[in-house]
Amino acid sequence: TTIPKFAQEMPVPETLKPDRISGTTAYYSFEMQEVETEIIPGKQTTVRTFDGHFPGPWIKACSGHRVVVTQKNNLPSPTSIHLHGGHVPESSDGTPMDLIQPGGEKTYTYPNSQPNANLWFHDHAHHVESENVFRGLTGFYTLMDLPEKALGLPSGAYDLPIAIRDARFDDNGQLIYQMNDFRGRNVILANGKAWPYFEVAARKYRFRLYNTANMRFFTLKLSDGSTVQQIGGDGGLLEAPVTTDKISITSGERADVVIDFSKYPVGTNVEIVNTENVPAGVPPTPVLQFRVTRTAADYSKVPAKLRTLPALPAPTVNRNVVLRVDENSADGMGYIDEKVYDHTRVDNTIKYGDTEVWTVSNVNQRVPHNFHIHLVQFRVLERNGVPVTSGPETGLKDTVRLMPGEKIKVQATFTGYRGKYVYHCHMFDHAAMGMMATMEVV
Ligand code: C2O
Ligand code: CU
Repeated sequence: TTIPKFAQEMPVPETLKPDRISGTTAYYSFEMQEVETEIIPGKQTTVRTFDGHFPGPWIKACSGHRVVVTQKNNLPSPTSIHLHGGHVPESSDGTPMDLIQPGGEKTYTYPNSQPNANLWFHDHAHHVESENVFRGLTGFYTLMDLPEKALGLPSGAYDLPIAIRDARFDDNGQLIYQMNDFRGRNVILANGKAWPYFEVAARKYRFRLYNTANMRFFTLKLSDGSTVQQIGGDGGLLEAPVTTDKISITSGERADVVIDFSKYPVGTNVEIVNTENVPAGVPPTPVLQFRVTRTAADYSKVPAKLRTLPALPAPTVNRNVVLRVDENSADGMGYIDEKVYDHTRVDNTIKYGDTEVWTVSNVNQRVPHNFHIHLVQFRVLERNGVPVTSGPETGLKDTVRLMPGEKIKVQATFTGYRGKYVYHCHMFDHAAMGMMATMEVV
């Protein structure tokens, strides 16, 4: 079956109202459940969801205001729900073995004691996270703060998240999941629809782009070569907007961009295309089509100064982390420091309050990876020996790209909570293959 392009409208994820609010705490509850939804025109696909939302539900939270989420698991698989990029106690982190069995439930508490950030939540149950996420178990979590609100960036209907991922379907429209199925997943979804369109007004929009693909990396461009302004990433706003004609996001990463459609006459179509892993001479693959259908007033702005990031304290500990996956076998293992993940082992012990620099290497020759640390937002100091002084990697990050043979230095301060947290490659299939390790903050 060929799936028509730009035949369905991209939905805006549904913002959830809390079940109740008490003081400064908002309470939510979800039932993880399988539902049918239309991803491909005319077909019903079974997906795994929070409360039936596909794309995932959207929680909006404010710094300093607690959110409590009760997750009931009505899926056939165990789950563990991780708030990606969140600074949370171990008991609410959704670590890989802290499982909610089918029929069970668990309540997670998110203190939101961190500045504005583009967070998300997804399954993290070891070995099954990859399939659960592939089948839909992700949600958006926007953390806002007052300094951000004061900037006057596009807001309301002009500020929305877009989850971009790939998928594979059989002739009946059902998802086909196989481990490490990189080449088979060649349908691109934006907010849960295959190659959708989205109608916009000729004005500025803020799109919080999420790469929710299991394995695929995206380098996104506008089809007419126009520039966009990247204003933020994983850990919220950058210090200053970056004007760029390409946005790169690996699995799990986020890019917060402002696109100004005001230069396009009503009636113009412009696409987001993916140029990563497209051989030379082959046109880039479409992702999503914007249709400029109307004009609209625009009082929003993108100030030249967005925020001041905290100064980098002097590090006292240096570590090396080596990422590797078996390159030649389809059912190989993944390693961090040549060890496969074992939740009973602590791989790194970190003193509470310490600032550490980690040199992370991808020693594979052909396979890309990326690197995600729980609990903290880190800073990227160097890439392949070159200091990172400009561009989106200067912001707060929790996930960072590592192409074959690459080496990066990241710095983080481990404070706020003690306990055991994981760090891993965020290509879900690689994490499921064991490319994950445990640090304990003591
Ligand atoms: Cu988005 Cu440990 O994960
Ligand atoms: Cu990897």
